[in-house]
Amino acid sequence: MTHHSATTRAEIDQLLEATLAALRAPSILNSQPWRWRPRGRDVELLLDPSRRLPGVDPTGHLMLISCGVALHHATVALAAAGYAAEVALLPTDGGADVVARLSLGAATTPDRTAYDALHRRRTDRRPFADEPPAGEDLDELVAAARRHGVRLHLLPADQVPQFADIVTLANVAEREVPAYTRDVAEWSDRTRTSGDGVSLADVAAPGSYQVPPRDFALRRRPGLEPGHGTDRGTVYAVLVTSGQDRGNWLAAGTALSDVWLTLTARGLVASPISEVVEVPQAQAALRRLLGWAGHPAIALRIGLPGDPEPPPASARRTGTEVIGLPGDP
Ligand SMILES: Cc1cc2nc3c(=O)[nH]c(=O)nc-3n(C[C@H](O)[C@H](O)[C@H](O)COP(=O)(O)O)c2cc1C
Repeated sequence: MTHHSATTRAEIDQLLEATLAALRAPSILNSQPWRWRPRGRDVELLLDPSRRLPGVDPTGHLMLISCGVALHHATVALAAAGYAAEVALLPTDGGADVVARLSLGAATTPDRTAYDALHRRRTDRRPFADEPPAGEDLDELVAAARRHGVRLHLLPADQVPQFADIVTLANVAEREVPAYTRDVAEWSDRTRTSGDGVSLADVAAPGSYQVPPRDFALRRRPGLEPGHGTDRGTVYAVLVTSGQDRGNWLAAGTALSDVWLTLTARGLVASPISEVVEVPQAQAALRRLLGWAGHPAIALRIGLPGDPEPPPASARRTGTEVIGLPGDP
């Protein structure tokens, strides 16, 4: 074996390890709509069309956001191993489903902060604490989104009731759409060993909320105690892009990952609210609330944990299910 191919092999191992860490990425309904494919010294991230959610995500916008989250998670794993990441987004010479090409960049000082957060991060759907997040923490989250060219708009308290009305409108509208309830029912009754989907064990029973949570249960029984949070300190934020093309949604995803890992590292918790972009009328109402400045990609609730015990880790597929062999189509 030549020296060159030995180097390549070690590089590929680093990249494959990063794709395994990226399995922990959050995704819409835990659908994990991606796969990875080694190609020479790169790995390619591909959309997996077989994991589409036609009712919840007819445009595929949330699927691309989810792929962006996985991509950023992989770069975080490389940073922890002491490598910069070289990323080509939406390469024009790739197939239609190729979202990005990732390769090892220069050696750097290993940075494990975000990587440690990657393993601790959870979607916390319970009411958050009374006390609001500190202003300097929120500034860091705005800076994290900006690194990806995305704006994190923090809703002022006086806009929260209108935001709650928009979320309610979206929830009510979606309940009338059979394709939507079919997707939610199908992806949210999974057992922890299924490797994907939302377990009802991670969905909080009704509690005190400023903004109503998505109804995953659909008349079934949610399994997580809501805890003692009042949700009064919760902050609502919207990731806003300058346009509405595939590159914008992907950037919203890398920004979502960066914001979420940053807030996790700072002891905060969050859960996304994507109903507001799933329903076109709700998205338009949210755009109006934000003064027509950009396109809302996804909203988030952010706070201090209402309960010190984190929710359980949700299910994931295994490496062999998401990583192809060199030469695979
Ligand atoms: C694009 C996107 C949209 C999401 N939308 C919602 C949502 O509307 N409500 C919610 O409770 N969780 C939402 N989630 C969180 C996922 O359900 C969660 O990431 C997944 O079930 C895995 O759980 P974990 O984040 O705890 O690992 C969303 C996540 C992503 C990436």
